[in-house]
Order: sequence, then C-alpha cells, then structure tokens
Amino acid sequence: MSIFDKFRPVSSALQDLTNYGVETVNVVIERFISPFEAVINGRQTVLAGTNNYLGLTFDQECIRAACEALRQEGTGTTGSRMANGNYAGHIALERELAEFFSRKGAIVFSTGYVAIIGMMTALAGPGDVILIDSDCHASIYDGCRLGGAQFILFKHNDIADLEKRLRRLGKQTENTLIVVEGIYSMLGDRAMLSDITEVKKKYGACLLVDEAHSLGVLGKQGRGLAEEAGVEDDVDFIVGTFSKSLGAIGGFCVSNHPQLELIRCVSRPYIFTASPSPSVIASTRAALKILRTRPELRSRLWENARKLYQRLKDMGFVLGPEPSPIISVRLKDKGKAVASWKKLLERGVYVNMVLPPATTDGNPLLRCSVSAGHTPEQVEQICEAFASLQDVPEPAPMS
Ligand SMILES: Cc1ncc(COP(=O)(O)O)c(C=O)c1O
Repeated sequence: MSIFDKFRPVSSALQDLTNYGVETVNVVIERFISPFEAVINGRQTVLAGTNNYLGLTFDQECIRAACEALRQEGTGTTGSRMANGNYAGHIALERELAEFFSRKGAIVFSTGYVAIIGMMTALAGPGDVILIDSDCHASIYDGCRLGGAQFILFKHNDIADLEKRLRRLGKQTENTLIVVEGIYSMLGDRAMLSDITEVKKKYGACLLVDEAHSLGVLGKQGRGLAEEAGVEDDVDFIVGTFSKSLGAIGGFCVSNHPQLELIRCVSRPYIFTASPSPSVIASTRAALKILRTRPELRSRLWENARKLYQRLKDMGFVLGPEPSPIISVRLKDKGKAVASWKKLLERGVYVNMVLPPATTDGNPLLRCSVSAGHTPEQVEQICEAFASLQDVPEPAPMS
C-alpha cells in the first residue's frame, strides 16, 4: 500500500491516450501569430477553444495599461489583500465593478475559482444548506465541500426538482444558498433564471449566480444572464471571472448585502492567497471599460456563435440545446472523440476535448469557444475541419 496507489487509474487513462498517439493533456502553444492563431506542434493553428469571448487578450489599450502598471507598481503584490497586497488599483476595480452592476459592494479575488470557493465557503458553513444545479462547474462543487454545509444537487435546469428539494427543507430554506451558472460551461446553455428567482423568493432562500461565461456575453450592457432575464434585483450575489471576456485572470463578487464587506474578514480563500498583480488589475480595468463601451464586440461574438452552431448542426453533429459562444459537439464514443480531436488539430484547429468524468452525461465532448475576435475565415476553417470529421475511421475501442 502506498500513497501513490491512487494514481494508477489516471496513469493508465493517460497511457491509453498516449497509445493512441495523442498528447491531449499538455498541448503547448509554442508561439502566437495573431490573437486567435498560434503555432502548435510546429503547425499554424486556429485557437477555437479559448474563453477569450471578446478577443481582448491582445487589445492595445489593455496591453498599454498593463505595461504602465508594471512600470509603476512592479510585477507582483507579494501579499494578500489582508497583508500588504491591497493596492489602489484593486479598490478602483471594485468601485468600477460595483458601479457597472449597480450594486453597493464588490470584492476582487485572485482567480474566478477562488472567488467562487471564497464566497461559497464564507456564506454557507455547517448547519447551512447549499442547493446546486447538477451541471455546475467543479469550482462550485469544491465550494460546497470546503465550507462544510449540507449540499444537495437538483437536476439540471429542472425547476420542479429544485422546488421539490426546497419544499423538503422546511424552515431550513431560510439558511439555504442556491447556486447556478449564467451559461453552463460544458454545453453552453443558460440557467432558467426567471423561474429560479421566483422559486427562490417563494422559499426565502439566497441566490448566487456564477456569470463566468456570461459576463460580456449576455445582456444589453453585457452584465450577464441576470441582466438579460431582467432579474438582477432578485440575485443576491453575482460572481464572475476576469479570465474569460476580460482576457486576464482574477475573480469578483458583487452584491447589495451589507455583509459583503465582512466576507473580507472571514473568507480564507480571500485572506490566505496573494492578491492579483498590478498589471492584471490594470488590464482588467481597461477591458471592463471596453466591455461597457463597445457593444459591437458582443454583436460580433453572437454572429460568429450563431454561424458556427448552425453550420455544425447542418452537418449533423449533436450539439448543446441552444446557440451559444460555447458550442460542444457531443459524441458517444471516447475513441472516436480522441481520433476526431487529433484530426482537427492536424487540420490546424484546436478545440478542447472533454472526457468523462468531467462531462455532464458521461459522454465525451469536443468543446469549441467562439470569440468576437475570430475572423470569418477562421470560422470557416473551423467549419471545414469539422466537415472533414465525417470520414474519421472508427477507432479501436479504448478502455
Ligand atoms: C463556471 C465557471 N466558474 C468558475 C470558473 C473558474 O474561473 P477561473 O478559471 O477564472 O479561475 C470557471 C472556469 O472555467 C467556470 O467555467
């Protein structure tokens, strides 16, 4: 018996992939050619799996702001927000986020993952209950486990199941936190937020919405699904990340609850990790300004998303339930998924392959993410690469 025994299953799963002649886990982006083209395995490749929804990672304003902050404030804060890592830039970004969402308060965390677990563990501990949609991201599952609250899953987007579970809780609904996502990260579908807010109000629970994939993507102003659904006043906490439409790294929570400020004193993931670097904060502030002032980026993103979704659908691929910047091709067979992913890469298109158990229904996905920054030619290249999959030979079964 050894502490390393537990690694055997993952080691043999990796060996399976290697036997298949594919290096899926550590694909290296060797050099950038343009924001959505890079050299991978020595080949010019379209990046069709990034979460760079508004295409801002190479935006000149964002780069200028980051360089200026690097020069003025150095490479890192070398401390947490609680201890010498709280700079004027963090506070300014919090003010700007609160204003953008028309909320009383905002907190900036070091990553989106940290924002979710930082908020969930502070809000729901022993004696409390968390109810989450079963399709929620791993960070939300971790937020449940780390805080010590009782946690219950409801069936994906099944409002009757959510209500049934709330009803069973009786008086405990008053200290229940419901957590859903704006756009679900695997299949790209939206939460049924109007119905969820109705149920939440009926039972007196609290609601947290993770808008990681919907910030900058949904809503007239780009505030996400709560804005699009017209229910912002009924959402207690909105959490988001800087690592997708804002093109950097970091996370945040906004809320009208006055207790938000106290989270800073009790949330271990806020207290015990270094704060985001000044350059990251500066580029995020510049990106937020662009998100607010250039709605045409959102229009372009949706144009590309609808086009790719329709083209793949017309080719006969089984996709998520609605057009979205996350477009997942659902496959039944792991071997076929690996062979298809490899062929896409050989055709110069890099998408994310998601294998069980990371997927929602135990089947593999080829997950594309579309951006406002993809050119029509790049979208066409993605379509053509998928069209070439029609003749991928059936692979030998994998274990
Ligand atoms: C729904 C959701 N929440 C949170 C996160 C974590 O965000 P980050 O990668 O910025 O830490 C992700 C990351 O993919 C996500 O998909």
